[in-house]
Amino acid sequence: MTSTERIQADRLRERVAEDLRRARERSTLLTDAVDDDDLVRQHSRLMSPLVWDLAHIGNQEELWLVRDVGGREPVRHDIDDLYDAFQHPRADRPSLPLLNPAEARGYVREVRDKVLDVLETSPLEGRPLVERAFAFGMIVQHEQQHDETMLATHQLRKGTPVLHAEPPPPAAPLPAREVLVPGGPFTMGTSAEPWALDNERPAFGVDLAPYWIDTVPVSNGDYLAFIDAGGYDDPRWWSESGWAHRMKASLSAPRFWERDGDRWVRTRFGVVEPVPLDEPVVHVCFHEAAAYAKWAGKRLPTEAEWEKAARWDPASGRSRRYPWGDDDPGPQHANLGQRHLRPAPVGAYPAGESPLGVRQLIGDVWEWCDSDFLPYPGFRAFPYKEYSEVFFRGDYKMLRGGSFGTDAAAVRGTFRNWDHPIRRQIFAGFRCARDAERP
Ligand SMILES: [Fe+2]
Repeated sequence: MTSTERIQADRLRERVAEDLRRARERSTLLTDAVDDDDLVRQHSRLMSPLVWDLAHIGNQEELWLVRDVGGREPVRHDIDDLYDAFQHPRADRPSLPLLNPAEARGYVREVRDKVLDVLETSPLEGRPLVERAFAFGMIVQHEQQHDETMLATHQLRKGTPVLHAEPPPPAAPLPAREVLVPGGPFTMGTSAEPWALDNERPAFGVDLAPYWIDTVPVSNGDYLAFIDAGGYDDPRWWSESGWAHRMKASLSAPRFWERDGDRWVRTRFGVVEPVPLDEPVVHVCFHEAAAYAKWAGKRLPTEAEWEKAARWDPASGRSRRYPWGDDDPGPQHANLGQRHLRPAPVGAYPAGESPLGVRQLIGDVWEWCDSDFLPYPGFRAFPYKEYSEVFFRGDYKMLRGGSFGTDAAAVRGTFRNWDHPIRRQIFAGFRCARDAERP
């Protein structure tokens, strides 16, 4: 190893250690904010008890980094089955003989101590799993993804508020409500991003017809106009499956909204407040998003359209890592990492806009796209089929861009998230698109 290579490896180790530390700080905050009764309780059948998430984070870290990368003896070989997400659906997890809060905290600490030692001593090259610290990056993303899930559990939890954060920055003037994305090819996905997951790979060319896309996500005020126009009661705007679900679930407004006399209020992490009209709408399912778009004379973007709007630079023709360029996200670019406990008003983060002027693609709210979860051409499952492959062609729709609850380590222009089209507990909203005539 040359001295330059050694310096690069040291820098990578420092970055990994810092990302691991930041993830753990957040997991600790989310689990220390409530008492032990709250940690072991199931706040919704859609979610695990918080104490399950915590020990599961430690168990994945043990499996991949302590045992596989480090080649060490198991810390706890007897609990793998309990924390295997594929063995036990969320609804069943409270009845399992789980580690109690003190045991779970001790377990994740012991695993982390060993992992920091593995990080110091293991080579970061030689086999694909450790190349450029991939396995460490995968575990950082995994913990941050569970932290966002735990944040969603906090949103479902009843009781007094326990989480607090500064308000997000204000909106800046918007030159236009929509932008035209010219037709033609662009590069989707990535073969270069070191911590990209298997479903984002490889990079490939996509040729799109021209389309218009909204500059900002649909706001609560926009969405309220749909409600007031009777959008929930008019099957014309809904797909067949969307209408069936709307009827069965008696949908009439975004989740966590309630009528209070002649106004709407919402509950946000235990605080009841008037619905802020200038914020992106959040906690709507795919069917609600699609119905709104049809009512507005538009449609949802496809995943490829979302990604072209987010990454394509018309000047160079190349695809960027993020809308603003290749730099990692900073607080000036996007509302990420639970720094604020709500989306920022539409039009915020002008420094984070794409070359075409599309804002808030990263952070604020996950954006529903009208695409199914499919592999890219040339997909190879890595490092295990259960990460993505078993979900392909299932009953899922795609979500892009991350939310205010997503950490910078767990989102990028190529990042793909997916969920059932009826899910509303996630921090998801949307923006609209429409066809443009070819010139
Ligand atoms: Fe997991």
